[in-house]
Amino acid sequence: MVETLKWNGETLKLIDQRKLPNELVFVTCKNHNDVAEAINKMIVRGAPAIGVSAAYGYVLGIKEYVKGENGDIEEYMKGVYNTLIIARPTAVNLKWAVNRMTRVFEKNLNKPLDVIIEKLEKEANDMAKEDIETNKKMGRNGAELLPERCTVLTHCNAGALATVGYGTALGVIRAAVEMGKEIKVYADETRPYLQGARLTVWELMEDNIDVTLITDNMAGWVMKQGKIDAVLVGADRISANGDVANKIGTYSLAVLAKHHNIPLYVVAPFSSIDMNIASGKDIPIEERPTEEITKIKGVEIAPKGVKAYNPAFDVTDNEFVTAIITERGVIRQPYSVNLS
Ligand code: MRU
Repeated sequence: MVETLKWNGETLKLIDQRKLPNELVFVTCKNHNDVAEAINKMIVRGAPAIGVSAAYGYVLGIKEYVKGENGDIEEYMKGVYNTLIIARPTAVNLKWAVNRMTRVFEKNLNKPLDVIIEKLEKEANDMAKEDIETNKKMGRNGAELLPERCTVLTHCNAGALATVGYGTALGVIRAAVEMGKEIKVYADETRPYLQGARLTVWELMEDNIDVTLITDNMAGWVMKQGKIDAVLVGADRISANGDVANKIGTYSLAVLAKHHNIPLYVVAPFSSIDMNIASGKDIPIEERPTEEITKIKGVEIAPKGVKAYNPAFDVTDNEFVTAIITERGVIRQPYSVNLS
């Protein structure tokens, strides 16, 4: 299985996802600022993967603390917390993971520093292990919903590379294949960052799963031709009423899927559900540099100086979501009742 991230007790090694599929190279994070930068620059991306990376960033943060030099440890760790959580705003898994680490830190505050470090390291390792187990559970729950032979459409990359391993939406595909189902996949290229073309296709080809690449604007036509039986996507944040923030383009797919009577399944762990937010209206949507639209691999593709708008995520209203597949089971409407 692809190793999105690897902790060796001293450093966090990440696959540099910006370089895939042409090069499989790694970036080593030696301190919490390196981790925040890796998240912000999308060396590591995907909601669960950035959550677990940030947990290791928190461990690196406390390891950098030197008594007598860095002031009060609580104040210092607040600084580490703030640096990590602002790295990317939409995926709630980032905050969820750093909050979980902070609870362990606060609970052990009266212990010697080496014990606090040990507890935090264990928590981050547990989180990484749980992520794979969670994905496998979601995979099984979701795979049961798919027919014995079917073709699914997926968007962005909600695979092993977006998690510690196995994936969420791609985890469902993997589990269905493991159950002996005959699954074919269409992958949207996912403009502007091309996570579909670069990452999803790479991952599925590595696993010998039948995948066909399309551009985002082909999805409607492919559905109209009757080629798609289900749409499977991940989530960056799900509000208490079941609205789903995910990679830009998910909303368009959801509207198209409804029009063509195709189920749209959102595959996400409970760490992506934000019960503090009532509806998708309040989910912060990250805007990224416009160069991601006006350039491809550094080459200008639009007139210099053009205005561009680059929201990295959109919100799909719950009415378009057939079901939310989680590690605890499959949740359907009414989400405002069933999620809680
Ligand atoms: O900008 P990205 O690549 O981090 O966006 C990723 C997505 O939108 C994924 O669908 C989402 O994080 C779920 S990953 C299991």
